[in-house]
Formats: sequence, C-alpha cells, structure tokens
Amino acid sequence: MKKKVIPIEVDLHSHLIPNIDDGSQSMEQSLEMIRALSSHGVKKLITTPHIHPRYPNTPEIIMNGLKKLQGELQKKEIEIELEAAAEYYVDESFSKKVQDGGQILSFGNKYVLVEAPFQNKPIDFESVMFDLKSKGYHPVLAHPERYQFLEGSLDWLQQLRASGVLFQVTLGSISGYYGTIPAKLSSQLLKSGMVDFLGSDLHRLTHIEYFKKGLQSKEVQKVIESGSIKNAELL
Ligand SMILES: [Fe+2]
Repeated sequence: MKKKVIPIEVDLHSHLIPNIDDGSQSMEQSLEMIRALSSHGVKKLITTPHIHPRYPNTPEIIMNGLKKLQGELQKKEIEIELEAAAEYYVDESFSKKVQDGGQILSFGNKYVLVEAPFQNKPIDFESVMFDLKSKGYHPVLAHPERYQFLEGSLDWLQQLRASGVLFQVTLGSISGYYGTIPAKLSSQLLKSGMVDFLGSDLHRLTHIEYFKKGLQSKEVQKVIESGSIKNAELL
C-alpha cells in the first residue's frame, strides 16, 4: 500500500493576490492555485506578496487584495483559510521602516518573512535582523537555499541561524525547480535540522508539480513526521 503523504497544513509563502507582484496575474489564476494547494492538504494560506522596489506594495494594497480574494473564495465555496502578510525585501527602506516602528505585516508568533538579494551578499542584513528582533519580531528568511552569493556554502546561513533567524525552505527547491545547487543546499539544510518552515512560494500553477514532488520526497516527509517543522503551529 502506498504510504500516505503528510501535508504541511499551513503554507506561509505564496504570491496569490492578483496583479500586485510577479505572482498571480488574475483572479482566475489565484483560484486555480488555491484549489491546487488545497488538493495537497493545505488548510490555511498565509499569502505573502512582495514588498520590493519593483513591487512597492503597502499593507493597505495587500489587505484590499486579500479582502477581494476572500470574497471570491466565499462565492466559489472554496473552503480554505486565507490570511496575508508580506515577503519583505531587506534594503534601506525596510531597515528604516523597522527602525522607525512602521507597520510591518507579520503572522503567527510575530514572524516576518524576509528575503535577501539573490546575487550579492547584503551588507547590513544581520543588523536589520537584529533591529527586527529588538522590536519583538521573529525574522524568517525565505528560501535560504536559493541565494547565489552563498556559492553552495552554508557558512553564512549557520551564522544567521545562530543569531536567531528562522529558515523557510521552498518545496520546489528540493525537487530541483531552481537547479542543482538549491536542491543540494535544501537537502543539507533538512538533514542538519536547519529548517523551521516549509513553503510553496507559489507564483503560478506550473509550480505546483514541483511543490508536490518536494512534499512527497522522503527527506521532507521525514522532517514533517519528526515534528521539527513549525508550519502546523500556524493553524
Ligand atoms: Fe516569494
């Protein structure tokens, strides 16, 4: 008999609000993606539109989009819990917002999803993480396995983690959607017990196949079974 796949139950990283970032480009696409996630056992979605120089979203834009999407879910009788936060690109403007006590969209236990630039190692990243923590937030680094400046090394990630930054690994990385280096790094992170959350980072429906393969992989099922992943705490 085929072994039952244990789902992540809560997905805390996705781009499902239409037309505000590089994720969903229509309400129809959003509903398709939500249906697909639900069919893989996701009961609750905390969707995280980019707040990035290229997508200068505000909490107001995100919350308005959330309301519309929730309305459509109700109309279509799609039963899933939907909340929103954001994926914050860590730059000067974010750093200033944290220092000035500006509005930060967090979820669960004051978790804040942050991303670093992909190509170049960010200079002040550690100090922004420190500032976030001193304001009572718990930073969660999105897809640590995908940063190219790491050049396959876990050193920087180990330092970050030791300073209290949590990690969200993307399921599509494990199944190879982002190439061999992220696949290898995500596997090392899982084996070293350095993964706090698993996420879909779903931008479009085609990502769902990789999400599914990642979820079904032995190494992912093993960490979910071990109880070391915090996703279900967000229910
Ligand atoms: Fe993302």
